[in-house]
Amino acid sequence: MPASADLEAFLEFLRFGSISTDSQHKGQVDACAHWLQERLTTAGLVARLMPTAGHPVVLARGLRQEGRPTVLIYGHYDVQPVDPVELWTHPPFAPQVENGIVTARGASDNKGQIFAHMLGITETLRQKGDLPVNLILLIEGEEEIGSPNLAPFLRTHREELACDVVVVSDSSMVAPGFPTLTYGLRGLAALEVHVTGPDRDLHSGIFGGAVENPATVLARLIAGLHDRNLKVAIDGFYEGVRTIEPWERRGWRKLPLDDAALTRMTGAPELRGERKFSALERIWARPTAEVNGIGSGYQGEGTKTVLPSKAMAKLTFRLVPGQDPKRIQEIAAAYFREHAPPSVRLEIVSGHSGDPYLVDPNAGFGAAAQRALKRMLPGRKVALIREGGTIPIVADFKSILGADTLLLGLCLPDCNAHSPNETFPIEHLDLGARLNRFLLEEIARSAAQTTVDASKIPNETETTG
Ligand code: BES
Ligand code: MN
Repeated sequence: MPASADLEAFLEFLRFGSISTDSQHKGQVDACAHWLQERLTTAGLVARLMPTAGHPVVLARGLRQEGRPTVLIYGHYDVQPVDPVELWTHPPFAPQVENGIVTARGASDNKGQIFAHMLGITETLRQKGDLPVNLILLIEGEEEIGSPNLAPFLRTHREELACDVVVVSDSSMVAPGFPTLTYGLRGLAALEVHVTGPDRDLHSGIFGGAVENPATVLARLIAGLHDRNLKVAIDGFYEGVRTIEPWERRGWRKLPLDDAALTRMTGAPELRGERKFSALERIWARPTAEVNGIGSGYQGEGTKTVLPSKAMAKLTFRLVPGQDPKRIQEIAAAYFREHAPPSVRLEIVSGHSGDPYLVDPNAGFGAAAQRALKRMLPGRKVALIREGGTIPIVADFKSILGADTLLLGLCLPDCNAHSPNETFPIEHLDLGARLNRFLLEEIARSAAQTTVDASKIPNETETTG
């Protein structure tokens, strides 16, 4: 259990309603960023609040010393909206701890996980006065809206943010007690489709049958997004899609996340999706087309005999390595344009996007991460997984800063991220704090070894060459 002052601080963090997508919550977003800056300063880091065109970035650093690797720990303090709020057992920003589990929006995604790192850093600084690595902590406020201002921020501050490796705890452990290294994430492309028929809602008796109903048109278009094998039916959608390696399939089959477990987690009567792939394969390594929201016509009590003027849907496509979000937005828009009848007007708005990510879990500091995970939960095998979610900036860390990312998740698959009643086990604060300490040590050790090995190379080539 964390010290009671630490737990109290965590609950304070959770009380900020830092919903990035909702301008009504701007005050809470800013207050949360300020709170973080203050707390990191107190911990002994140099912490700054950096404005962006959107919500501020909290940037903190430890002492910089020549010859040590630089580790950038990334997280986000913004959270998803809370609706439907009536399904929460507690108000989402009034965290409650019951049976060692806290319920609040953001508890897992991402406040609990980033707070665990903050605890680890604070503890090490308190005990040793220094960290084993040069540390940069970057906590942003726009992850849940696709990090629109963070890539430009990385470009502007490229030198200041130069690092050897990035660490992110914004993913899951496969099950309680299973140390997990995530080496792949899906990407994302968002699209809105607006269908307009008549210029206003019409009496469905006076005009029904004469003009086409935009809700029906949209439903037809959406139904056509998948074929009968539940593959996405957009031309070119699977171009370049990277196949799943046999070692991945073998490893994933052994995980405690079978179809029965997944069914239980979702509450759906049964699982269903693209044929010839297991549910985990479909989530982690296959692309999808999802309707996130759909609306048209009368939604109130009783009936209203109306022929709606408009219908709209919000879609996102989850993408895997080999797919390009911009291209997917283009071919998806082309699908709607080609298939919409001339009886309606179509407007398509491209939304945010994020590239997929894939890295070799044994390369670079991957081995150091696996050693740290084993120390965190001794005697356990490290699960090597991909995940279906998206952290848009991870691909940018590679392309802009040239750094690979280690994804070390601390939340559980049934944590209700983005759903009502999001939870985080309080003991995962300590678990994550320990992981942070082991990880920084292991990265420092592995960097020291690499440096020694590298210095040997010229001599050997000289003698053999
Ligand atoms: N923490 C998640 C991403 C995630 C989820 C990683 C599950 C691994 C497993 C992150 O906060 C998130 O929700 N990202 C959004 C990104 C989007 C808004 C661009 C997502 O995946 O929907
Ligand atoms: Mn999220």
